[in-house]
Amino acid sequence: MVVAETPEAELIELRKKVAYHLHRYHVLDEPEIADAQYDALFDRLLELEAQHPELISPDSPSQRIGGAPLAAFDKIAHEVPMLSLDKCTSEDELSDWMVRCDNRLGLEVQTSYFCEPKIDGVAVALTYEGGVLTRASTRGDGTTGEDITANVKTIASVPLRLDAEGVPERFEVRGEVYIPINEFEAFNQRALDAQEKPMINPRNGAAGSLRQLDPAITARRPLTMFCYSLGWSSSDWQPGSHSEVIEQFNQWGFRTNALIAKTRNLAGVMAFIDRVLAQRATLGYDIDGVVIKVDSLSQQALLGAVTRKPRWAIAYKYPAEEATTRLRGVEFQVGRTGSITPVARLEPIFVGGVTVSSATLHNMDEIARLGLKVDDYVMIRRAGDVIPQVVSVITSKRREGAAEISLPTHCPSCSSPVVHVDDEAVARCSASHNTCPAQRKEGLKHFASRLAMDIDGLGDKLIEQLVESGLISNAADIYRLEVESVAQLDRMADKSAMNLIHAIEASRQTTLPRFIYALGIREVGEATALSLANRFRSIDALMAAQIETLVEVPDVGPIVAERVRVFFQDSDNRRVVQALLEAGIQWPEIAPPEAEASRLEGQTWVLTGSLEQMTRNEAKAFLVSLGAKVAGTVSARTTQVVAGPGAGSKLAKASELDIPVMDEAEFMAFLDDHGAR
Ligand code: IVH
Repeated sequence: MVVAETPEAELIELRKKVAYHLHRYHVLDEPEIADAQYDALFDRLLELEAQHPELISPDSPSQRIGGAPLAAFDKIAHEVPMLSLDKCTSEDELSDWMVRCDNRLGLEVQTSYFCEPKIDGVAVALTYEGGVLTRASTRGDGTTGEDITANVKTIASVPLRLDAEGVPERFEVRGEVYIPINEFEAFNQRALDAQEKPMINPRNGAAGSLRQLDPAITARRPLTMFCYSLGWSSSDWQPGSHSEVIEQFNQWGFRTNALIAKTRNLAGVMAFIDRVLAQRATLGYDIDGVVIKVDSLSQQALLGAVTRKPRWAIAYKYPAEEATTRLRGVEFQVGRTGSITPVARLEPIFVGGVTVSSATLHNMDEIARLGLKVDDYVMIRRAGDVIPQVVSVITSKRREGAAEISLPTHCPSCSSPVVHVDDEAVARCSASHNTCPAQRKEGLKHFASRLAMDIDGLGDKLIEQLVESGLISNAADIYRLEVESVAQLDRMADKSAMNLIHAIEASRQTTLPRFIYALGIREVGEATALSLANRFRSIDALMAAQIETLVEVPDVGPIVAERVRVFFQDSDNRRVVQALLEAGIQWPEIAPPEAEASRLEGQTWVLTGSLEQMTRNEAKAFLVSLGAKVAGTVSARTTQVVAGPGAGSKLAKASELDIPVMDEAEFMAFLDDHGAR
């Protein structure tokens, strides 16, 4: 370390270093030093500034912690109005807009279009003077906004000072401040744990965080910013195009979105719109569409604006992921393991591109957290293919005397008492799955499902009919079904009945892990079933296993061991297993573990980013079942990293340490090769 001559010189050096590493971490997502090293630099900076308060400058990274609280926000008049965008929702409308642009510009000029995601956050304008951030404001009514400088300075990805060539004397950068989805979820989890109020959604959370009068509160919110346009500039910078602006922003240290496209025609724009929509659920931030801008700034000037909307840009809006509707009632569904789940029955509403009429409420704790009452108006969210959720209650629209929602005391299916086990959030039907019809139906659906016995054509509706007509009451009965009786059922005929019987026939040849999984033992998912199959290699051995042997299996703890033991001690369960084996269910023998070169004992794996085909927990369970350890951080001891979309600093660390990385497709192939799926 170089020892600086004066505190002033050391401070200048430190500020540069801290700003550099913040940029690497928050803008480039490629840190160069460990968190502890960064903390040491920052601590030294604070120490020096405490000793020499006269040397504290407004652009010092120390100012990001948040200064003194404000009494109110000052008003700021925008030098150039902040416009809003016209919108369209179809290819035809988009085409009309492009034709209008082309026509106004004259046919001899070629128009280039710049496309970028429309971020669902809060628009903010940043003023830089002499390379220093001097002011940040909200959009407000477009003409006048609010001075939120102190709050914006706490956002780590916003540069406080630009140390670069060619920075104009004065200019304004505009962009969107938002909260990444994983940060939003982590924040809400912490809030719930601390019994504090969670944020309604990331956009709302971002807006609320920026409106804090105490910047120290804003500093604790996980805000970041994408910069997407030039507000205005002093005449020493005259960029020719929007793409040039974005490239400059990048070079000067602003965070810009890498997901962009420049194209000259409708097909190119539509391709980008489709590409972004396909990625919407895995982007890591909320968007509500795509913004298409005429790239040339002189063409933008020629096109001008009408009533607060520019003619040179348009938003292509995706279907909204949130909408409000009325709660008609709450129904209590009984699951395969007796869990009683409240389901919201809703007035049908179009959201996320489909009509939704019900949403899960998870459990009574969730109802209490939402403060939900009968007949309430609720905000529904359906993002990607995720099942619809109730996000919040619109209490202002609540009818007077609205009734509370209470848990039924008896199972809606078999009338057995409903019980709360220990500190589980879910309530359960106290009957066994052999006596409660709802549990039985759900158990049979699970048995026939794709990852279990995979009986083609034996879907939920058909199982319900088969149970209700008395044709089956347990899994073994499925193998006694005959074409004639099945053909009598609603919407079935000879041909479809025949196909079903063939599919049932084909499912007799299975694998031991599938069979164990199909039995529907509580807590035994696919990965645990695989571990059990590998360890015991026969159903008889598994049925006879004692707790002490079961807990030795990787991925099996005392609770799972207990569940397995209890399941096989039940005489009804034993009888069904026996009947299934007599019905001819069989599987190839499992090779003894010594013969397997595919075990991962002694290896440490790290999972980062999101996976699309399985949850991280499932991926972890598979790795554990193969004998690997799964760690949360990358170190020299890491054997392998699996990186999905959105992978950040762990991926950077892996490449720094030369640790092999595979993507999700490679990981799936790996699991298949190792017989793990
Ligand atoms: S350009 C005049 N680009 O959308 C055009 N806006 O409805 C100025 N927004 O207030 C905006 N992502 O808050 C632009 N990539 C993007 C955007 C974006 C989100 C917001 C912005 C603006 C609103 C317009």
